[in-house]
Amino acid sequence: MNRLDGKYVLITGGSQGLGRQLAINFVKEGSARICIVARRQDFLDEVHNRLLEINPKIKVIPIAADLSRQEDIERVVAITLHQFDGRLDVLVNNASTIGPSPMPYLLDYPLEDFRYVINTNLIAPFLLIKKLLPAMIENSGSIINITSDVGASGYPGWGAYGISKFGIEGMSQTWAAELQGSGVRVNYVDPGNMNTAMHRSAEPDEDPRQWTDPSEVTEVFAYLASDESKNVNGKRFRAQGGNNHKDNSSYVERPVLASEV
Ligand SMILES: NC(=O)c1ccc[n+]([C@@H]2O[C@H](COP(=O)([O-])OP(=O)(O)OC[C@H]3O[C@@H](n4cnc5c(N)ncnc54)[C@H](OP(=O)(O)O)[C@@H]3O)[C@@H](O)[C@H]2O)c1
Repeated sequence: MNRLDGKYVLITGGSQGLGRQLAINFVKEGSARICIVARRQDFLDEVHNRLLEINPKIKVIPIAADLSRQEDIERVVAITLHQFDGRLDVLVNNASTIGPSPMPYLLDYPLEDFRYVINTNLIAPFLLIKKLLPAMIENSGSIINITSDVGASGYPGWGAYGISKFGIEGMSQTWAAELQGSGVRVNYVDPGNMNTAMHRSAEPDEDPRQWTDPSEVTEVFAYLASDESKNVNGKRFRAQGGNNHKDNSSYVERPVLASEV
């Protein structure tokens, strides 16, 4: 506990599922200020109240925004920098959309839906990192991107969502390589199957009780957000699978960074 003492954190998709759970855990770990972003205000309000129950002194900034829209991203950045006095310690690019459900094959995938998924899941993290990076340099901030097993192997039907996660993995490696030595680190985590609204919508015929509760996967995120991981950059983690970050076998190997050769 208190591994995130005083840290200023922004979590996209912080209103439900994994993002909500990370917000709760990060406040329990001592975060001093936390921005949560999602489209629906009522879900944000619920998390806001929950965080105040945990720590009445915490500064919570709920921002209703659609991250598929560039103007909303600009607003999120402006509000965050204003409320955080120009400083950000941890950015968690967690918000994602699965796209149409049931998930169509690529041959039938509507272009507008494809664009919406890529804008939300890939372009938004790119822009948030780019625009918030200056606020993260001074305190050697931590960027955590969220991937999935469908970002490492192509599966039929996972369409734009899977392709966006392939993009997140490549983008995380590229940012990490370009930021090597800057103090800011970029790592990415596959949380594994979780019982959340997204997963229930992606696989409506499956029994969601077989999937893990998001509260079971938070440990690696607290590690990556904390100073314990300050020298860890460009690594892919799995939050589930019988191992944890303290066991090197949990790492899925990534290509060696160009700057390390
Ligand atoms: N669940 C799994 O089994 C699983 C497996 C592997 C990876 N993941 C990854 O884990 C992360 C969290 O997923 P989850 O299962 O917790 O999903 P979730 O319960 O559906 O939550 C998604 C969050 O993102 C927000 N969001 C979605 N579209 C948005 C948009 N356009 N603009 C702003 N906010 C938006 C949602 O709020 P609003 O709808 O109100 O906007 C919500 O807060 C995602 O990156 C997902 O790809 C999940």
